[in-house]
Amino acid sequence: MPYENILSERNDGITTITINRPNKLNALNKATINELNQAFKVADKDKHTKVIIITGSGEKAFVAGADISEFAHFDVKEGGKLAAKGQELLFDYIENLSTPVIAAVNGFALGGGLELAMACHFRIASDNAKMGLPETSLGVIPGYGGTQRLPQLVGKGRAMEMVMTAGMIDAETAKAYGLVNHVTTQDELIALCEKIAGKIMRNSTVAIKGAIKAINANYKDGVDGYKEEIKQFGKCFGTDDFTEGTTAFLEKRKAEFPGT
Ligand code: COA
Repeated sequence: MPYENILSERNDGITTITINRPNKLNALNKATINELNQAFKVADKDKHTKVIIITGSGEKAFVAGADISEFAHFDVKEGGKLAAKGQELLFDYIENLSTPVIAAVNGFALGGGLELAMACHFRIASDNAKMGLPETSLGVIPGYGGTQRLPQLVGKGRAMEMVMTAGMIDAETAKAYGLVNHVTTQDELIALCEKIAGKIMRNSTVAIKGAIKAINANYKDGVDGYKEEIKQFGKCFGTDDFTEGTTAFLEKRKAEFPGT
């Protein structure tokens, strides 16, 4: 399907979605958010896609934030709607996807860009990456989940400092904070993401889906994560993947998961 602001291609079980507005440092406008929602939906439904990688085009930016030119004249109602719609279509959507999503942070990840990376299941950065939530320098606060996910990942004090100062941290600091899992060169970024995706793909997609639900439950208000874990754990016992995984182990061979 043709997109104007993004690229999406599948190779060997990995769908790579690239935000493709390099002249605007891949800033997220409404059209891009809608296209991303569509592309994630397609990839998640595609039984040949086992892992999704999201990155930005060009050498400078992953995503330099929400498109400021689009919301600069919004009023209170429009502002609230912007955040609600974005969270529904993209940020919460990605977090709750059953296909693993890796953010390949290849440069600036600011504001909505960092929020997008944080909504992914985990993040790998290139050594030129710079991350921050600069919204308070624009007179606004993060609205795509940043005030919630940043403290979850880096702790409250660091999140408070990053949001209050509107400053940027480099890739090594982000790694030390636990915001990204690995740092590599820009040239090797996608290859490293693919290598890790390869390890994920060897495992049961059905079990991974349950694990994502159980882990996410820890961060959902009013949801008992331990109960969700018990539910998801129990469900695994009714799957073909479980039969294959345990049988293969006992037969001392590599599991060939049917994905059901
Ligand atoms: N929204 C809209 N346009 C953006 C943008 C954003 N968040 N971030 C960058 N752009 C645009 C610039 O307006 C510029 O467009 P132009 O060439 O048509 O003028 C283009 O992308 C290149 O950006 P520029 O600022 O010239 O690059 P730089 O290397 O000098 O600076 C940044 C890079 C990332 C430091 C700077 O672009 C920036 O601060 N961006 C905004 C970051 C931000 O506040 N994000 C949170 C939004 S809520």
